[in-house]
Amino acid sequence: MNTHPIAVIGGDGIGPEVIEAAIPVLERAAAKYGFGLELERLPYSADHYLKTRETLPDHAFRHLQDDVDAIFLGALGDPRVPGNEHARDILLGLRFRLDLYINFRPVKLLHPDLGVLRSDRSTVRTSDRPTIDFVIFRENTEGVYLGRGRIDGDQYIAEEVNTVKGVERIIRAAFEWAKARGKMRVTMSDKANAVPAHKVWQETFKRVAAAFPGIEAEHRYVDALALELVREPERFQVIVTNNLYGDILSDLGAGLVGGLGLAASANLHPGRAGLFEPVHGSAPPLAGKGIANPMAAVLTGALMFEQLRHLEAARDLERAVQQTLAAGVRTPDLGGGARTRDVAAAIAERLS
Ligand code: NAD
Ligand code: IPM
Ligand code: MN
Repeated sequence: MNTHPIAVIGGDGIGPEVIEAAIPVLERAAAKYGFGLELERLPYSADHYLKTRETLPDHAFRHLQDDVDAIFLGALGDPRVPGNEHARDILLGLRFRLDLYINFRPVKLLHPDLGVLRSDRSTVRTSDRPTIDFVIFRENTEGVYLGRGRIDGDQYIAEEVNTVKGVERIIRAAFEWAKARGKMRVTMSDKANAVPAHKVWQETFKRVAAAFPGIEAEHRYVDALALELVREPERFQVIVTNNLYGDILSDLGAGLVGGLGLAASANLHPGRAGLFEPVHGSAPPLAGKGIANPMAAVLTGALMFEQLRHLEAARDLERAVQQTLAAGVRTPDLGGGARTRDVAAAIAERLS
């Protein structure tokens, strides 16, 4: 049997809860489709950092780099570490050091009553009405996230790094993904009207788009895009943008289709092991209560299976989540009364 070594980092807050709830669901799907998961739990988290002062030791980094097929991560962030230095080393550290330049974040309406917009709730539904279904390609290795800059007296200076190589590879990834799936439009978003350095996004987008003549290449300043995403999200298919705007737009996108409890993400570098984590964080107010929504973690597992080339298993997981939503088995963030473990069990049941 094909068995994948997978590192699991539950992390902080609701991270371990949603990851441990999702794992049996993923194992059930794997068994159904004839492959195995060899899971290795790693302790890196705020707790571990506070006890040992260790964030992500070098030997662990090398192990993650060399020996696993994927990393499945919950969330990092803890009020006891206000500077967030452990998350910077573990989460951003893995993204940067593994050069996972694509942060892939799908936004899809999985059930009509999850939409927050008037148009989603319209009582007149036709099967040919477009639905919200787009993906965000967030650049994941540059931008302000590198943390470059300085504090100089009363000046707090943050530098934003945009390289031709970095911008080109994320734009190209977005077009290639669009082409492979028959998508007709790629929207690039920047703030070139205010940030001169964003010229590199404009120039590179034009150049790369020329190699994909069948795909409409459109541009939106990020402020205008935020408004349009609320007004008419159905018209978007593929959005490509920088690290910071991608972070913000992916929470906005999650808000359009049910919230952070449903939003999945994958950090990828084609040909290498990826890092798979829900879009949401550690949600300190929910930690330990047993009511966090595990669906984002399960859908993140589906992205991991897709990357591991188990496409049927990935689709089946999404279907099982969709049917669980339709059956009304939902945690409180979606207006239901179910607990984390009930939702996970309901999804698993729908896989047999
Ligand atoms: P958050 O995503 O943790 O939570 C915001 C709110 O969204 C929560 O209070 C909760 O009401 C809701 N929510 C999120 N996930 C949910 C789920 N699975 N089920 C039900 N409700 C859910 O964002 P935050 O409060 O801004 O950040 C908390 C901490 O998490 C911070 O330290 C932040 O830096 C960190 N964070 C980590 C990641 C990550 O590890 N990938 C992502 C985002 C934030
Ligand atoms: C995310 C998170 C992280 C980010 C934080 C925790 C650094 O918000 O994965 O979206 O900004 O990338
Ligand atoms: Mn975020």
